[in-house]
Amino acid sequence: MKVLVTGGMGYIGSHTCVQMIEAGMEPIIIDNLCNAKDAVLDRIEALTGTKPQFYLGDIRDEAFLDGGFNQHDIKAVIHFAGLKAVGESVAKPLEYYDNNVNGTLVLARSMRKAGVKSIVFSSSATVYGDPEVVPITEDSPTGQTTNPYGRSKYMVEECLSDLFNAESDWSITLLRYFNPVGAHPSGTMGEDPQGIPNNLMPFIAQVAVGRRESLSVFGNDYPTPDGTGVRDYIHVMDLADGHIAALKAVGEKAGLHIYNLGTGKGSSVLEMVDAFGKACGAPIAYEMCPRRPGDIAECWASTDKAERELGWKATRSVAEMTADTWKWQSNNPHGY
Ligand code: NAD
Ligand code: UD1
Repeated sequence: MKVLVTGGMGYIGSHTCVQMIEAGMEPIIIDNLCNAKDAVLDRIEALTGTKPQFYLGDIRDEAFLDGGFNQHDIKAVIHFAGLKAVGESVAKPLEYYDNNVNGTLVLARSMRKAGVKSIVFSSSATVYGDPEVVPITEDSPTGQTTNPYGRSKYMVEECLSDLFNAESDWSITLLRYFNPVGAHPSGTMGEDPQGIPNNLMPFIAQVAVGRRESLSVFGNDYPTPDGTGVRDYIHVMDLADGHIAALKAVGEKAGLHIYNLGTGKGSSVLEMVDAFGKACGAPIAYEMCPRRPGDIAECWASTDKAERELGWKATRSVAEMTADTWKWQSNNPHGY
């Protein structure tokens, strides 16, 4: 089965392509490489023995997308392409809405023309804002977002829901990721952030490998067991498998399908620091700092719905997340 994968050269997309090939699917990648390197393609080939078809281009270029759909018998689309840095989105809201929201509209229009009406969209737990209760179920309120990135995810969810309300033959799957971390267990593929990492795991990994002196822990006065923020970290390989499970279970069923992809378990910043220290064999230097504006105290997923309806459950532990990240980071200290 041919599946168009937008943003397939990026962190989550590349791991998903590997798992798709292992599962007998044929990913066709579109990426403009604004946040990825073309070396990723060789790494996918080295792991799977298959080099996926790759088209360099932008999802906002409708003629380019139309060409791809004309050339291949695409059955479904997994839509990863987008910009994802929260701080940058505050400084560049127009760029974020254009890429993430407009980009999705152009893609959906091109899909409709080609008669491809199955899409799996990369959404985020950020659409839940600061949750009133944890674990967060899929019917928890959404929309209380705190930044343009989060709003762009919420807006796309709303646009795609409206599309389904108008045209009920679409299969639209919104996957709300919690905190994706980790790397391929081979140590040949992983997250390769440009500049100073915004997120916890890549920052810890760069401290471990000696690229940064110490981690700033943003707040130790949250109402959590050790005072630091608690998140639901999910191994990127589990996340990748979740996409395949979603395609198989609901990709051919008309409907608006919404699932959390998380583990159902929260870990604090200090627990992650400790786990990483064990993985790399040396303690991670850190200092306590004030809270980061916009952060919430704690957030983890209810995983019941995905387990019940997709037959999918995350299985990889925090120890595997840190060990695989360390393998990737130590083998590739400067990324790809
Ligand atoms: P990433 O930046 O590594 O991958 C995104 C890919 O999309 C990159 O390869 C980039 O070059 C490409 N891209 C961006 N804009 C494009 C455009 N207009 N046309 C073509 N290609 C374009 O990010 P990721 O971590 O792999 O995230 C994938 C998706 O998952 C994103 O939509 C992101 O918002 C979402 N998401 C990520 C996280 C996370 O923590 N990583 C959490 C929740 C949701
Ligand atoms: C952030 C984004 C969210 C996005 C997600 C995945 C914000 C407010 N939210 O989530 O929209 O979907 O990334 O890309 O940015 N931490 C430190 N020191 C650091 C970095 C992080 O202590 O240098 C702490 C944070 O305070 C938080 C935890 O680590 O408690 C996780 O942070 P991070 O990895 O940035 O993810 P989120 O904030 O959950």
